Amino acid sequence: MKNFHYHMPVDLFFGEGQLAQLAPQMKRFGSRVLLVYGGGSIKRNGLYQKIMDIFAEEHISHWELAGVEPNPHLTTVVRGVELCREHNIELILAVGGGSSIDCAKVIAGSVHYNGNPWDIVLDSKLCTSALPLGVVLTLSATGSEMDPMAVITNTDLNLKYGTGSPLFIPKFSILDPTFTYTVPASQTAAGTADIMSHVFESYFTLNDGAYLINRLAEGILQTCIHYAPIAMKEPDNYEARANLMWASSQAINGLLKNGKTTPWSVHAMEHALSAYFDVTHGVGLAILTPVWMEYILNDDTVQMFAEYGWNVWHLDRTADKWDIARAAIAKTSEFFASLDIPMTLRELNIPEDMLETMAKNAPKGGDTIHGVVPLHWTDVLEIYKKAY
Ligand code: NZQ
Ligand code: ZN
Repeated sequence: MKNFHYHMPVDLFFGEGQLAQLAPQMKRFGSRVLLVYGGGSIKRNGLYQKIMDIFAEEHISHWELAGVEPNPHLTTVVRGVELCREHNIELILAVGGGSSIDCAKVIAGSVHYNGNPWDIVLDSKLCTSALPLGVVLTLSATGSEMDPMAVITNTDLNLKYGTGSPLFIPKFSILDPTFTYTVPASQTAAGTADIMSHVFESYFTLNDGAYLINRLAEGILQTCIHYAPIAMKEPDNYEARANLMWASSQAINGLLKNGKTTPWSVHAMEHALSAYFDVTHGVGLAILTPVWMEYILNDDTVQMFAEYGWNVWHLDRTADKWDIARAAIAKTSEFFASLDIPMTLRELNIPEDMLETMAKNAPKGGDTIHGVVPLHWTDVLEIYKKAY
């Protein structure tokens, strides 16, 4: 196991009724708030009104940045920065899934920066101070509620890049699983694929000696496999929603990379797709993941995939490890398909003649993704073709 430093300073309130913490938490930071949310789900399910009631009772002044798009655009970040400056905002409150939270993070980090927020996406060290950020989570997927990362799409350049800074970490996050009861089955499936992909990206490493962390990772994967079908069939099953919600945070809050070198691969390949096309992040990941596993299966990685098959899918420990590795990859694909996720890029209406352009964009600013098995852009193109 490698040395590590772990510090994840989020005040996290988990469970039904925790919205009662919103006012006391906000008041730690001020009473002029920018509310950041998406396309209206919080209005339809009543959460917006609950928050308005709290603002009124507590005399909190608020301004709104509504309509944050899935795969949030740089232009929306810029609008948010302008609102913060114009109204002397003291706290940003993101209510939604990863898109609203990520948008709010880069707004928070850009308010005091004298330049284009895209500079900060490219180089987060340019962010030297940020407005405080609070979160009310409505979708279990990205883990943005408990991590320092944000992913922003520049539609002028067709680039979707992740960025990260300790300054982006939410000061507080409220995780009430009942707020996810209205998440449609398709988003529940995509969110689960995203959680599992975050685990895979950290889990699949070679000879790291991180036994404990790998067993925790397997526990999160089994939680997703167990509860996603239940949450899709019974959207208001508290136990299922609660377990998926906590899995979302634990998969990417740093826990699973402690003591490991975790070079991510599949996210870079997915982000290159959703930079061009309105691909749901988790769907892109579900399509690419089994193909990537198959592509990197070799003498060095076979043991890693066999252990995944034994420990997560409970496959036969006496069988040949190559057979188990292949069976585990097949199980992964079958599981995503069982959640009704479309399993080819063709079904997402991505034109085949765009694959090469996207493959060249996948390694951020280079020609190779330095994952557990390095992938030159030509390898990415092969993976896209196999996934088509
Ligand atoms: O926009 P609204 O109307 O709110 O509807 C959203 C949206 O259409 C809907 N939704 C959310 N909560 C709901 C709900 N519908 C009904 N009831 C609810 N309670 O779900 C749709 C998707 O929302 P979005 O926020 O886009 O989804 P997600 O949380 O999956 O976020 C995706 C974005 O996060 C990035 C992705 O790349 C993508 O841009 N990621 C961020 C990460 C991070 N910050 O660490 C890591 C991830 O790997 C990921 O890259
Ligand atoms: Zn993800």
